[in-house]
Amino acid sequence: MERKLPTLGFIGTGTLTSALVTGFCTRASETPYPIVLSPRSRDNAARLKAAWPDRITVAESMQEVVDRSDWVMLAVLPKAGEEVCASLRFRPEQKVVNFMSDKALPQIREWIGPTAALVHMVPLTFNAFCDGPIVLSPPNAEAAEIFGRIGQVVQLEERYHAAVLAAITGCVAPFFTLLDALSQWSAAQGVPPDLAARYVSGFFGAVCQEAAHLDGAGLSRMAGTATPGGINFLVKDLLTQQGGFQMWADAMEPALERLTANIPRPEK
Ligand SMILES: NC(=O)c1ccc[n+]([C@@H]2O[C@H](COP(=O)([O-])OP(=O)(O)OC[C@H]3O[C@@H](n4cnc5c(N)ncnc54)[C@H](OP(=O)(O)O)[C@@H]3O)[C@@H](O)[C@H]2O)c1
Repeated sequence: MERKLPTLGFIGTGTLTSALVTGFCTRASETPYPIVLSPRSRDNAARLKAAWPDRITVAESMQEVVDRSDWVMLAVLPKAGEEVCASLRFRPEQKVVNFMSDKALPQIREWIGPTAALVHMVPLTFNAFCDGPIVLSPPNAEAAEIFGRIGQVVQLEERYHAAVLAAITGCVAPFFTLLDALSQWSAAQGVPPDLAARYVSGFFGAVCQEAAHLDGAGLSRMAGTATPGGINFLVKDLLTQQGGFQMWADAMEPALERLTANIPRPEK
């Protein structure tokens, strides 16, 4: 007998929900989970509904999302979290995923009461179009199976460790700023701007594809791979002397502090 697919409900239909729903509807067509969206961000909800009318229902209220769903995703901004969660009635057999970056699961448990599962997850907008990593804590086989359709699920016991990896997600805008700076530098040297931009994005896109399957040893090997006296050697040496790499690790500290204000560091 065919297994009935769980219904996925999203509380909050903003940037992240739009991306995840796009991922589920375009890249997980073999598992057409029914999807229910909350009514705010009306334009996003209408656009998603128009694109996949058979898969998506736009609910009249957030409570209707909860009532119709097996898995409920909490995808509002952290500052609205308590008000939104406390206003909803969850069923004990329901399963809940929190996306709010700074929330600890015991806090959310207080707001929503008992549910069959409550996990924290860190997907990203790239899960709309590629299998980028999705942090899941604590491990949960069913959540991993569902979200494994749109990303590579990385399961962690410790919520604190999930926050450490979430700090890394603060490098998206800095990374694009680096690409933009190098593209503009190339254009300032006379390369046609469009060509410079296409080269820089294509170049880093290819380097990232190379990086995507490396383990720790592979990353260290590639970091140490530079022809002595060559330009990689030269640029890395100059950036190292100026603290250009340490700066990135240093910037993670305040990000982690913010993400773990409510989350204790494990003893070991
Ligand atoms: N964006 C990412 O890549 C990313 C990655 C990982 C985790 N997250 C987490 O995911 C959550 C959503 O992020 P986002 O980027 O999708 O934010 P967003 O685009 O601002 O979307 C937030 C959604 O919540 C709704 N909302 C806000 N206040 C509400 C309230 N009081 N009652 C009901 N609905 C309310 C908004 O509706 P209106 O539009 O009507 O205000 C909107 O639909 C955040 O907690 C964030 O930390 C985001």
